[in-house]
Amino acid sequence: MNDPVENAKRLAAYKAVDNHVVDGIIGIGSGSTVVYAVERLAQRVKDEGLDVICVPSSFQAKQLIVENGLRLGDLEMHPELKVAIDGADEADHQLTLIKGGGGCLTQEKILASCAEQFIVIADYRKASKSLGEQWKKGVPIEVIPSSYRPVAQKIEKLLGGKSELRMSGSSKAGPVVTDNGNFILDWRFEGAHDWKEVETTLNMIPGVVENGLFVGMAKKAYFGMSDGSVMEQS
Ligand code: A5P
Repeated sequence: MNDPVENAKRLAAYKAVDNHVVDGIIGIGSGSTVVYAVERLAQRVKDEGLDVICVPSSFQAKQLIVENGLRLGDLEMHPELKVAIDGADEADHQLTLIKGGGGCLTQEKILASCAEQFIVIADYRKASKSLGEQWKKGVPIEVIPSSYRPVAQKIEKLLGGKSELRMSGSSKAGPVVTDNGNFILDWRFEGAHDWKEVETTLNMIPGVVENGLFVGMAKKAYFGMSDGSVMEQS
């Protein structure tokens, strides 16, 4: 594979699957890096007879699981996961994450909260000293559609910055609608924050379903690097 970013994603995903997946129930995150994790899982099922049931965090993840011939489960049948593997939009040194670039943050956070181990896989562009350094699109926040304007106003009043309703490709197509039938606000912030406090403040606003700050959840992150190595952070 010649593309250094895709190569880095694949390296991180393969290593995480090899180091953390044993027989059991596995949470599958969303995004482009997770594609490689599912690919590796399917290889291991075929080659080693690994016995896994995969719980998806999105429609995309469900499709990946099915297309790769893996066994599909859900949280109703399997409320406890051995491990959840997922990408991130940005991860700082404490493994505080911004997630939800693909709009799947709520189900991703639910899966992460149900897992004994929550493992992050990403390419080298996602590692940063402090949030906002790499990911410029802000913190995604899933909101009940009818509440997006008051929620946006309240966020700006409480935390500053700017909240924007995420639109799909053309304005004619309207706002992005999540797998849960909700809208996404992207909150662009300035400077450093106490992210645990921000996470709580956001979730206290009526109309907010969940936000894309993952604080103190990730056990370990694997970053594929441009030189073909994998940086591990815990
Ligand atoms: C999906 O909503 C996101 O949380 C993804 O996990 C995140 O955007 C990472 O995606 P990539 O693996 O495509 O970078």
